[in-house]
Amino acid sequence: MTVMDVEALLGSLSRLPDVEAENLQAFDATDRLLLETAADLLAPDTKVVVIGDRYGALTLGALAGLGVGHVRVNQDLFTGRLALKRNAASSGLDGLFTEHPLGRELLDEADVVLLQLPKSLAELEEIADAVARFAAPHAVLLAGGRVKHMSLGMNAVLERYFSSVQPQLARRKSRVLMARDPKSISVELPFPVVETLPELGITVCAHGAAFSGARLDIGTRYLLTFMDRMPPARRAVDLGCGTGILATMYALRHPEARVVATDQSAAAVSSAKATAAANGLGGRVVVIHDDAMSTLEPGSADLILLNPPFHLGASVHAGAALKMFQAAARVLAPGGELWTVYNSHLQYRAALERQIGPTVEEGRNPKFTVTRSRKS
Ligand SMILES: C[S@@+](CC[C@H](N)C(=O)[O-])C[C@H]1O[C@@H](n2cnc3c(N)ncnc32)[C@H](O)[C@@H]1O
Repeated sequence: MTVMDVEALLGSLSRLPDVEAENLQAFDATDRLLLETAADLLAPDTKVVVIGDRYGALTLGALAGLGVGHVRVNQDLFTGRLALKRNAASSGLDGLFTEHPLGRELLDEADVVLLQLPKSLAELEEIADAVARFAAPHAVLLAGGRVKHMSLGMNAVLERYFSSVQPQLARRKSRVLMARDPKSISVELPFPVVETLPELGITVCAHGAAFSGARLDIGTRYLLTFMDRMPPARRAVDLGCGTGILATMYALRHPEARVVATDQSAAAVSSAKATAAANGLGGRVVVIHDDAMSTLEPGSADLILLNPPFHLGASVHAGAALKMFQAAARVLAPGGELWTVYNSHLQYRAALERQIGPTVEEGRNPKFTVTRSRKS
């Protein structure tokens, strides 16, 4: 394929099954810049790894446009994985990449690593550690982002793991950091971070990409103050579980409940599993990597606890929360309850009424509102 074909390929990509909207694209200028920067480094037998590909632009771009024979891929998001598969199938490129968890299997002997810079420094740190630890000693890490979302903190993280970190010229408001010469690193893996939270009396484990790290989010803290008022459910779900604090607290309070914790992020799923195990709940909390409970049966939950996201990638978009309300409406049994906490300015109550059923405000503090919605 030629470079023209890369443009055609990028233009053909879809975000599905992720939220689609006019202002949301399946690729960005960073994908293009990473592919252009990588072009000079690649030969057909180069061992290429792609981390953080959103919908397949990097993986499929490398395969289609840069003559790479095979790509190893790590994507945190469930929807990103599905989108890559879908886009690969429609462009005839399936079978040319393999998916792996972040670690040795992904990075062993890798020559070139393409990375869409993550939002959080902790996530970047976990990735940088893995690349420095497992890729070939001569490996080149190309980490790209939108200039407005990049910070010097990112250079600092990479400099902890690589002797050479060179920012490349910015183009089309994107920039690539080129990192080489991994430093020797400590034997201990730095993730998951494990912390005890004395205010809750539990231990929390967090991989780099997990929401809020090993800390208690203030919205979650507020929702937890309503635990006494929540019904004793046989089947409870912590939807968008992050590190699994809500699932863990509910399971400890209700030994009779079967608790499912589910998140679209693989890092969250690993974190929630580790958190449940650290609190002696390994067998009682089932953790599922999924998009908005797509694999749960309709009517299969009596209670859903939700602290929804309001960011979609780098953009602020209510679609992510609305998608979770719709999912809750499908998975709740009649009479089941959805307990939600959200920033009061978001005014989700009307949407909750519409999607789920009668919704009452259980409480409000200067920042957050907690609602209880009953499935009608
Ligand atoms: C605000 S955080 C709350 C995390 C955790 N429940 C807590 O209270 O700390 C929202 C979580 O929802 C997850 N999420 C967002 N969209 C999702 C979706 N479509 N399906 C499953 N999880 C999703 C995010 O990955 C994130 O972990």
